[in-house]
Amino acid sequence: MFNPEITLKEHDEARQGEALVLENDKNVSNSRKLYIESYGCQMNFADSEIVASIMMEMGFTTTGHYKEADVIFINTCSIRENAEQRVRNRLKEFSAAKTRKPDLIIGVLGCMAERLKAKFLEEEKLVDIVVGPDAYRDLPNLIGSVDDGNKAVNVLLSREETYADISPVRLTSNGISAFVSIMRGCDNMCSFCVVPFTRGRERSRDPHSIVKEVTELSENGYKEVTLLGQNVDSYKWTSEDGSEFVNFAGLLERVALVNPDIRVRFSTSHPKDITDEVLYTIAKHENICNYIHLPVQSGNSRILELMNRTYTREWYIDRLDAIRRIIPDCAVSTDIISGFCTETEEEHQDTLSLMDYASFSYAYMFTYSERPGTPAAKKLKDDVPDEVKGRRLNEIIAKQQQSSRAELEQQLGKVQKVLVEGFSKKSDKDLCGRNDYNAMVIFPVVEGIKPGDYVNVLVERCTSATLIGRIV
Ligand code: 5AD
Ligand code: SF4
Repeated sequence: MFNPEITLKEHDEARQGEALVLENDKNVSNSRKLYIESYGCQMNFADSEIVASIMMEMGFTTTGHYKEADVIFINTCSIRENAEQRVRNRLKEFSAAKTRKPDLIIGVLGCMAERLKAKFLEEEKLVDIVVGPDAYRDLPNLIGSVDDGNKAVNVLLSREETYADISPVRLTSNGISAFVSIMRGCDNMCSFCVVPFTRGRERSRDPHSIVKEVTELSENGYKEVTLLGQNVDSYKWTSEDGSEFVNFAGLLERVALVNPDIRVRFSTSHPKDITDEVLYTIAKHENICNYIHLPVQSGNSRILELMNRTYTREWYIDRLDAIRRIIPDCAVSTDIISGFCTETEEEHQDTLSLMDYASFSYAYMFTYSERPGTPAAKKLKDDVPDEVKGRRLNEIIAKQQQSSRAELEQQLGKVQKVLVEGFSKKSDKDLCGRNDYNAMVIFPVVEGIKPGDYVNVLVERCTSATLIGRIV
């Protein structure tokens, strides 16, 4: 039986799927085993690697099978309602494991933990631990508290925490690509978005610790790093004595210079903050990939204002033009929300026409999902009917399929540098990897070529989402 006492560390100031399970099975001894499952944005996956590192320091080993775990952690996402629903369904599946093993500890981490706080323990009785994204260092105490028969909550948000000194355990990595977190939180307050509430204030990680992490990855044979932040363009760091200032362009350059053989990617960029200086830095360094994820959300200025995105359609177009001017050969992907509060048919058409202008290589497309507590939920009416949101989304998806294909077709007949990641999903006679523009390329195995190698591939054909070719 659990003691009903709750270790509660909430903070008054508390003001982003797809699931991935850790794959490497590092279970070697009879120590306690951790299973961790992650939902939502790449940041969450990177956080799970920090959590695994902290737990391994405590003597835990990791397992890829929840049925043999002593501790199950689920790192959650609150960005849309269906993301939360998936987590709740998954928790139901874990309850059988708890019946079989009463000592099993189940912990909810990440954005849902932060949003629902101790309420989670009331709503989901099988949950023992609730930990927000800035409280992972407290896991040893929290686990100890649960071992003593209590339930444990720490959802304290921080203005400083960047986990800069913690070496992530690369859980799901192929040994070639790694995520490197460069900042945490978000200060933007887009009206639809729950992230500023679940991940707290924006703070940038010490660039020296970032360069050190990338250097270690390079020494360990990694060939690609993706720098992560909710809004990487607003990265800024000043040394304590004020003598050193680094912005995102400066950080990108430092990371690119670690090893010219390591590809550098980054996500996510914000249209209001992406500067020409960043674009010139991308253009200057061969190993910084010509690919920018630049969420537009809507192509209409009135909707953008209601979303508090702080740019207009014209501003976004200006940024697209700057990208095309400074990095002529650059893919741009985006995020789009259909059916935001009060969106009219004409305003939806503006999104479609902007998509025509931009010819995005890829898009993540969503219907608007009202999130409790956000500025939009408080001030605006979620008045676009679900079927209209759905129909507009389908039009957006159809448009995107055309432009994804057009962007791939542009690459036919060209020789592209591809970083080999492994065998293709469908056949072990084929290898796969990404080109500079983040498109997946499939090509027949050639003896001696292995994951982590760069190869030149002549692109001969394409499907709706993949390029097909051969090594030349
Ligand atoms: N409803 C729908 N989509 C949302 N996003 C963020 N919040 C919401 C919401 N409430 C989308 C945005 C963002 C991406 C990560 O998720 O497009 O860029
Ligand atoms: Fe959310 Fe806007 Fe911050 Fe992105 S920039 S995390 S959409 S508030």
